Amino acid sequence: MIVRNTLCKRTIIAYCIFFFTVLLIWKYHEKSIKIEEEEDTLKVIISSSLVNTTNSTTTIIEENEKQTNSILSINENRLDYWLINNSKTLGINLTAIIASKRHGQYLVYVCHENCGGWGDRLRGIMSTFMLSLMLDRNFRIEITHPCNLTHFLRPNLYNWAQPIDGLIVVDPITHHRRFNLTRKMLITTANARKEILSNVSQILHNNRSINSIWSEDVLYWATNKDYFYQLSNNMFYRKKFKSYGIMTKYNIKLEILFPLFYEILFRPVDKIQQHTLQFRLKPKKNPIICAQIRTGRNPTIPDDKLLPGRRNISESVFSFIDSNDSNINSEIFLTTDNQQVYDEALQRYGSRLLYVSGEITHLDRSLNIDQKVCREQDKLLTDFHLLGELCDVSIISNSGFGFWGNLRRFKPFEQLFVFCAGRIYKIESMWHLYKMREQNNNGESC
Ligand SMILES: *[C@@H]1O[C@H](CO)[C@@H](O)[C@H](O)[C@H]1NC(C)=O
Ligand SMILES: *[C@@H]1O[C@H](CO)[C@@H](O)[C@H](O)[C@H]1NC(C)=O
Ligand SMILES: *[C@@H]1O[C@H](CO)[C@@H](O)[C@H](O)[C@H]1NC(C)=O
Ligand SMILES: *[C@@H]1O[C@H](CO)[C@@H](O)[C@H](O)[C@H]1NC(C)=O
Ligand SMILES: *[C@@H]1O[C@H](CO)[C@@H](O)[C@H](O)[C@H]1NC(C)=O
Ligand SMILES: *[C@@H]1O[C@H](CO)[C@@H](O)[C@H](O)[C@H]1NC(C)=O
Ligand SMILES: *[C@@H]1O[C@H](CO)[C@@H](O)[C@H](O)[C@H]1NC(C)=O
Ligand SMILES: *[C@@H]1O[C@H](CO)[C@@H](O)[C@H](O)[C@H]1NC(C)=O
Ligand SMILES: *[C@@H]1O[C@H](CO)[C@@H](O)[C@H](O)[C@H]1NC(C)=O
Ligand SMILES: *[C@@H]1O[C@H](CO)[C@@H](O)[C@H](O)[C@H]1NC(C)=O
Repeated sequence: MIVRNTLCKRTIIAYCIFFFTVLLIWKYHEKSIKIEEEEDTLKVIISSSLVNTTNSTTTIIEENEKQTNSILSINENRLDYWLINNSKTLGINLTAIIASKRHGQYLVYVCHENCGGWGDRLRGIMSTFMLSLMLDRNFRIEITHPCNLTHFLRPNLYNWAQPIDGLIVVDPITHHRRFNLTRKMLITTANARKEILSNVSQILHNNRSINSIWSEDVLYWATNKDYFYQLSNNMFYRKKFKSYGIMTKYNIKLEILFPLFYEILFRPVDKIQQHTLQFRLKPKKNPIICAQIRTGRNPTIPDDKLLPGRRNISESVFSFIDSNDSNINSEIFLTTDNQQVYDEALQRYGSRLLYVSGEITHLDRSLNIDQKVCREQDKLLTDFHLLGELCDVSIISNSGFGFWGNLRRFKPFEQLFVFCAGRIYKIESMWHLYKMREQNNNGESC
């Protein structure tokens, strides 16, 4: 009896150890989801005392009630522009894009931790959205880090926030909740498993349907990769692309489809809308120059990545602006990750400076996941939208945040300048951008 008891205890202990090991491995695995490319999270600075927008905000909100219609039309025009006026996205079949896909089949972009900055996330969202169209699966977005995406962005035409139909059922007798759809988690960020990557490449490159590899109903996918190029070169998807009105593979590019997809998917929540309108409804006498200055590690955010190539970025950008006599009366909209840059700009430009007040924020490094972190993101998203809606001239860092923000401009390559390693390059197409990066150690020196 004693022997059996001891054996029993040992077995239990062995099970416990096994269980903990599994738990540890799983936790480690989760932690290892890191981003691969440039971490382009933009961190933003405090300026509560210097820029006082409290009373102007209230004015705008009152104006807003009167102007609801014009606001709605402003946003409808944005979508219309890409569907009607822009030759490369002209003729895309919106009905087909927003239609329900195969019943009970889902592709979900997930970001629960370490998903990188807003630039990385947008790349992942757009890639999975495109995949969902190709694979005929319903698309959803689940971002919970550092807080729920629905705090800033709402679905526009495609309801990516709608709960997954039939995922959880309640047993009528026991009242237990259980999953009634099969699920699979795929991770293709930096530390992805080789096996998953090779399976993904089977789907992207070869004539292999996703269901023959992963037949689960709900595929959760964490990624920051651009899959457009691979999809565009896969003959197998040509027919599918045509069914969405994309007739040539040369238009299947992230930078071409991004601004359209963004408007289809997202609409800022009211408070962010109010903030952007505060700038957009202002009577405009002179061109607006936008400067997105990301310096990397600085006293405001000491734990950030060092970017040695950005040492004199602010001085370069400001003297570039001032060297052109036509800019003498221009207003300068600034977004930066560095308090000193803001102070410099305020001193230099005074009332010509346009700035969204707000607090320090870092999309991927915030420790306290609470309401405060969520509020801090408001400025980040407002800045992001303004980069696409306000600028006549755009001067950006070699950063995802600046790049995606700029792509939302109706003419993204008109008056676009990019700072890299002490110089400012005029960028007239993607080719110029690639060339600039090529000349600077693949952009590493930028
Ligand atoms: C900002 O506005 C508040 C309330 O309107 C006022 O109390 C405060 O003094 C203002 N700050 C500055 C720097 O003007
Ligand atoms: C904001 O308040 C300041 C100081 O009270 C005032 O001079 C200014 O005209 C106000 N701005 C608006 C838009 O009401
Ligand atoms: C789109 O084109 C139409 C007609 O060509 C024009 O009236 C409209 O202003 C254009 N929209 C934008 C946003 O450029
Ligand atoms: C757009 O797609 C829908 C649904 O797939 C289809 O019924 C419609 O004919 C398409 N429109 C055009 C212009 O191809
Ligand atoms: C995010 O917010 C939406 C709407 O407020 C809600 O339906 C959803 O369950 C939330 N997601 C998570 C993971 O909390
Ligand atoms: C669970 O899924 C099965 C198979 O897809 C379906 O037939 C059944 O109706 C679902 N149960 C509930 C309660 O929805
Ligand atoms: C890769 O695909 C094969 C089927 O081709 C499947 O058996 C295997 O489980 C997949 N690997 C992963 C990691 O999902
Ligand atoms: C893809 O493979 C299937 C068989 O697995 C074949 O029937 C089909 O014709 C192939 N399609 C292409 C475009 O090669
Ligand atoms: C910035 O540094 C580069 C060299 O790294 C230099 O060529 C350039 O003149 C500097 N620009 C300014 C405005 O100081
Ligand atoms: C100066 O600015 C104007 C207006 O933004 C622009 O058209 C012109 O090309 C600029 N000149 C130079 C030398 O960059």
